[in-house]
Amino acid sequence: MSMRDFPKLELHLHLEGAAPPAFIRGLAREKSVDISGVFGADGGYAFRDFGHFLQVYEAATSVLTTPEDYARLVTAVLEESAANGVIYSEVFLSPDFCGGSDVAAWREYLHAMQEAAARAEARDGIVLRGVVTCIRHFGPERARAPALCAAETAGAFITGFGIAGDETAGRPRDFTWSFDLAREAGLRLTAHAGEWGGPVSVREAIADLGVERIGHGVRAAEDPRLVDQLAETGVVLEVCPGSNVALGLYPSWQRHPIQTLRERGVRVTVSTDDPPFFRTSMVREYEELARAFGWEAGDFLEIARNALDAAFCDADTKGRLADRLKDHPT
Ligand code: ADE
Ligand code: ZN
Repeated sequence: MSMRDFPKLELHLHLEGAAPPAFIRGLAREKSVDISGVFGADGGYAFRDFGHFLQVYEAATSVLTTPEDYARLVTAVLEESAANGVIYSEVFLSPDFCGGSDVAAWREYLHAMQEAAARAEARDGIVLRGVVTCIRHFGPERARAPALCAAETAGAFITGFGIAGDETAGRPRDFTWSFDLAREAGLRLTAHAGEWGGPVSVREAIADLGVERIGHGVRAAEDPRLVDQLAETGVVLEVCPGSNVALGLYPSWQRHPIQTLRERGVRVTVSTDDPPFFRTSMVREYEELARAFGWEAGDFLEIARNALDAAFCDADTKGRLADRLKDHPT
């Protein structure tokens, strides 16, 4: 089995976080903006720790200022994902960075991104769906505007709502207004939790926000009762092992809890989070998991099926993706 050819479904990818450094450098040059501080000597993104990562992320994002920039970004990101064998990508989109969470501006950005996604699907067969995201360290008041953007544009393309950013800022219950609005608009819900916060953070995201998926969630492994709860209720974890290892959450791939969680019956999926920041790709994730845990074709098929089940897209889209998984010789 070629790791590249194996059909992959990715549920946790930040659009700005997937921007190749050369793409961001090119935009900065076009706009005569100096963001040289975000790059290291090798030309890649450079940061010291998670707090600094968030700063570098926002500085890199500052050169994306028009719907056309975002359309070009979607094209570049989907090209890279398709080259990694990704057939379905659920991407976090942040209205805060796309017109300052003004609904009219957001519609223009969204239109441009959707057109770029349609072109990529026609060319490479890769399907994109958007999960609108608010940013936790911007605070609960500011989270209302992206939630309104999400509710106004909910449909076949914008299928979910979530929260990213610094998990140590505030509590999940501070954001219930935004999550309630999104749920009432028919959106499916996910939240970053159990990355920088421990098991309590995961429990609260589930209890207070009513999410059906957790972004990361790996720190749940520290609490056997929570692990049982996840297994029994079928909450799906969007696990990003390479991101966790790169940010120092675990000292090595072998020490990452993804395999233990799986063995305990938790439904896990595999994603890259912000691939160029963490020097990873979906192919690299698969290769490292195979090396660390001996995963084979059957294991990766189970992961892909979990992602298909947990995907926020409609039944027609799922049917088409299921056919592509079935057709793949393992
Ligand atoms: N935004 C982009 N990447 C993130 C991560 N790993 N955790 C929280 N927020 C993020
Ligand atoms: Zn993330």
